Amino acid sequence: MKKIIVANLKMNFGLDEAINYKNSINEKFDNLIVCPPYIYLRDMISDNYIIGSQDGYYIDKGAYTGEISFNQLNSIGVKYSIIGHSERRHKLFEDNKIVKDKYVACLNNNITPILCVGETLEERQNNKTLEIIRFQLESIFKDYKIENVIIAYEPVWAIGTNVTPTLIEIEEVHQNIKNIMNELNIETKILYGGSVNINNIETFSKSNYIDGFLIGSASLDPNNLMKMIKITM
Ligand code: PGA
Repeated sequence: MKKIIVANLKMNFGLDEAINYKNSINEKFDNLIVCPPYIYLRDMISDNYIIGSQDGYYIDKGAYTGEISFNQLNSIGVKYSIIGHSERRHKLFEDNKIVKDKYVACLNNNITPILCVGETLEERQNNKTLEIIRFQLESIFKDYKIENVIIAYEPVWAIGTNVTPTLIEIEEVHQNIKNIMNELNIETKILYGGSVNINNIETFSKSNYIDGFLIGSASLDPNNLMKMIKITM
């Protein structure tokens, strides 16, 4: 099985860089989902990868100045969306209720959500990792039965820091997520995200517990990204 690769471009690039990026991905990768900033979504649509968004708003339309709805995203061909990224949870104060509303709205608009979960450093140090992740998952899926789910395990302390958990630590959490989702009877794919780069992706991609990767900084250089994808194949 090919690994799923999600490139989260975050709030980077001017228009020229966005277009260069799109043109640089000059081979077809049917397992690559590129998530640009909203303003470049249409400019970056390509036959060589799938287009995704980094977020979306949970109400379809109306007086919500500055927001972009999943309904609008669907209208321009967005197929996937990251939901509940830790930067949105921690820097933009999204709680589990907002994350759930976004998750549901995303699915209602035929966009596949990629749900991010993960613990802070303090939570890990206090042995709360598994508890926090269970809480994040149950707050969405306990009373909401759906079929195929994609989850990205992203420890907050590993995002943009060049520090990662060990493979054993990642596998422990992924196994735990699998168990929780099995209890809920939901088939799930689990990606890992947080400081994935060209040096560590090979080791991680050998693991059967890791179905793919959510990549931030290391995805900003399209050539580096393509090299990384090939390493996972
Ligand atoms: P990073 O970001 O690869 O730069 O750590 C990952 C993410 O935020 O999804």
